[in-house]
Amino acid sequence: MAHTPSILQALFHLLFIYLAAGYSTLSEESLRALPGPGDDFNIKTGKLLSPILQPRVPGTPGSIAVQNHFIDFFKTTLPAWKIELQNSTSKTPATGDRDVPFVNLIISRDPPWYAPGFSSRLTLVAHYDSLSVPEGFLGAVDSAVPCAILMHVARSIDVALTAKWEKMQADGMDSEFEDHQGVQIFFLDGEEAFKTWTDTDSVYGARSLAAEMESSAFAAQSTFHNALSTISLFVLLDLLGAKNPTVPSFFMTTHWAYQKMASVEKRLRSFSLFESSAKAASPKAASSSKKASSKKASSKKASSKKVSPKRKTPKKASKRNDAVFLTEADKTGGRWLGGMIGDDHVPFMERGVEVLHIIPTPFPHVWHKMEDDGAHLDLPTVTDWSRLITGFTAEWMELEGFMNTTQTSSKNGRDLNADGSRPTKDKSELP
Ligand SMILES: *[C@@H]1O[C@H](CO)[C@@H](O)[C@H](O)[C@H]1NC(C)=O
Ligand SMILES: *[C@@H]1O[C@H](CO)[C@@H](O)[C@H](O)[C@H]1NC(C)=O
Ligand SMILES: [Zn+2]
Repeated sequence: MAHTPSILQALFHLLFIYLAAGYSTLSEESLRALPGPGDDFNIKTGKLLSPILQPRVPGTPGSIAVQNHFIDFFKTTLPAWKIELQNSTSKTPATGDRDVPFVNLIISRDPPWYAPGFSSRLTLVAHYDSLSVPEGFLGAVDSAVPCAILMHVARSIDVALTAKWEKMQADGMDSEFEDHQGVQIFFLDGEEAFKTWTDTDSVYGARSLAAEMESSAFAAQSTFHNALSTISLFVLLDLLGAKNPTVPSFFMTTHWAYQKMASVEKRLRSFSLFESSAKAASPKAASSSKKASSKKASSKKASSKKVSPKRKTPKKASKRNDAVFLTEADKTGGRWLGGMIGDDHVPFMERGVEVLHIIPTPFPHVWHKMEDDGAHLDLPTVTDWSRLITGFTAEWMELEGFMNTTQTSSKNGRDLNADGSRPTKDKSELP
């Protein structure tokens, strides 16, 4: 990766503080009311997740079915969101002369006074394609779950966005100083390599989209000069859904945003709203977590795909019950591993976009194995990520005061185990 000189980094940092000046934390009441995905993440029947759990190699019927799943969901349940497709084709090392089609979905919501070139967008990203080999690979953590989480985030903030923007209009806006920010979701195609991860055999969709967004041009007097520069923060979710994730802070320039997300995590945990944490407290869960961490070393092969940087296995199993997901909130210096993991952010990062990469390191032990399927997900962890990303997004979009606080997390259907059964919990563990 190209390293940015530190003066520039400091300037970016200042600009960034300015762009996000209105970041506001959610009240305890709003955090408690954040909906979990409940039955919609059931791996067999769940409305959001189960249709993604099929092979979806670029250019295949499975890929088109999953595209249609996203499109149908937004068209029918979130009609205020705008859906765009960005298409490209490329040859790949595995498909010879055939042009493989790649289809990115860009699904956005902007303030009613949106004008191209004047509004930025928080950008939430996951890839929806699946690995072509092994055949039949389902890619549950890679990245069906991150996609489903983003659908859940969108529906969980939709009403609040409307309410906030209506209130701003009713109050009379001072357009110079008001928050112009919208939000967009990228469901990217062609993240996986067809043969071996290289610069040209990987992130096909992201490379095409970043180049196209950069070459777009807004009118000269616009706040932003092209679509790429309207991205206030590129939040990339990948490999989420396995038990006991540990996610480092990869980039110094976005460490403050990482800390914001870590603070949401900390508060959710302090209100006992983290379901994986309550489960991990049982002896059974603690022993399976030990097994998972001893396997981690074998889950990364330096020769393939993304390279997960070497890292000491954190903490003993006995201390992991409440091990946080975002482990580096307190880091003040040391190593920033951004750029060491190849992923969809790279073509954007290379063009100066600020990135928050939410990817567990080390990777989950199911990574790129047939076992990366629905049955191997840890649904309490999936639920926790859903609430955490929703809370972070609601804070970024300044939705405090607009989130629906009449629904409680336990009302929204207690979240299910991977086999669809209800998790057993002591009453005392419920919030
Ligand atoms: C992109 O590809 C999709 C799926 O193949 C197709 O339905 C759509 O019309 C294409 N869009 C554009 C803008 O070419
Ligand atoms: C808020 O949530 C409650 C409980 O789920 C629901 O009945 C109500 O319709 C929601 N209100 C809005 C404005 O969405
Ligand atoms: Zn992958």
